Amino acid sequence: TERSVQVKLVLLGEAAVGKSSIVLRFVSNEFQPNKEPTIGAAFLTQKCRLEDRVLRYEIWDTAGQERFHSLAPMYYRNAQAAVVVYDVTKASSLEKAKTWVKELQRQANPNIVIALAGNKIDLVNPSAPSTSSTPESEDEADDATATPGETAASGEPESLRQVPRDEAEAYAQEAGLLFFETSAKTGEGVVEIFTEIAKKIPID
Ligand code: GTP
Ligand code: MG
Repeated sequence: TERSVQVKLVLLGEAAVGKSSIVLRFVSNEFQPNKEPTIGAAFLTQKCRLEDRVLRYEIWDTAGQERFHSLAPMYYRNAQAAVVVYDVTKASSLEKAKTWVKELQRQANPNIVIALAGNKIDLVNPSAPSTSSTPESEDEADDATATPGETAASGEPESLRQVPRDEAEAYAQEAGLLFFETSAKTGEGVVEIFTEIAKKIPID
């Protein structure tokens, strides 16, 4: 018979980074473009099948609005896993994610598996640089004639990326976190968060 372990998982992160959208993608394979903010927290479950076992995630999707911050300990207490989400198009959301990681590392279960997820990667132009090294500026004179959302040179949509992948990944490695870039909109990277966490949950 197949083993099915229950795993309590909590999502944390600034408001509107896409926590609920990641959960909706994982649980229902759906996306809602105008998802309403979470009030308090939402509870959902989903199975996750690995080669040798099945896990049942019990997911607490918390509200990111600051007025709900004090509720968070109720949801991360006893959690075996946490997904801390930021928005790759909003640099301040990574700073907020770092404060959540610190809080988890101080207050949560010492064996908690933490994943850092940079969401909304669909808003990033794949040809735009994803490293923090600034490319030499070119054709600056053209910028004045560029349409908002487009670069004058190529007509390609301008990348909205504010958090370089290498910077976030280096932080995650230093802090001992799993790291993903995701899009709840396209589904990119979403299942991977939950399967990679599952592989790190010890079989008891
Ligand atoms: P709170 O519940 O307030 O903490 O917010 P949240 O982190 O749960 O964010 P939510 O999932 O409600 O998403 C906020 C907005 O961003 C919604 O309009 C979503 O449709 C949008 N959104 C979420 N994920 C993505 C994504 O991957 N790409 C894009 N383009 N939009 C996204
Ligand atoms: Mg939400």
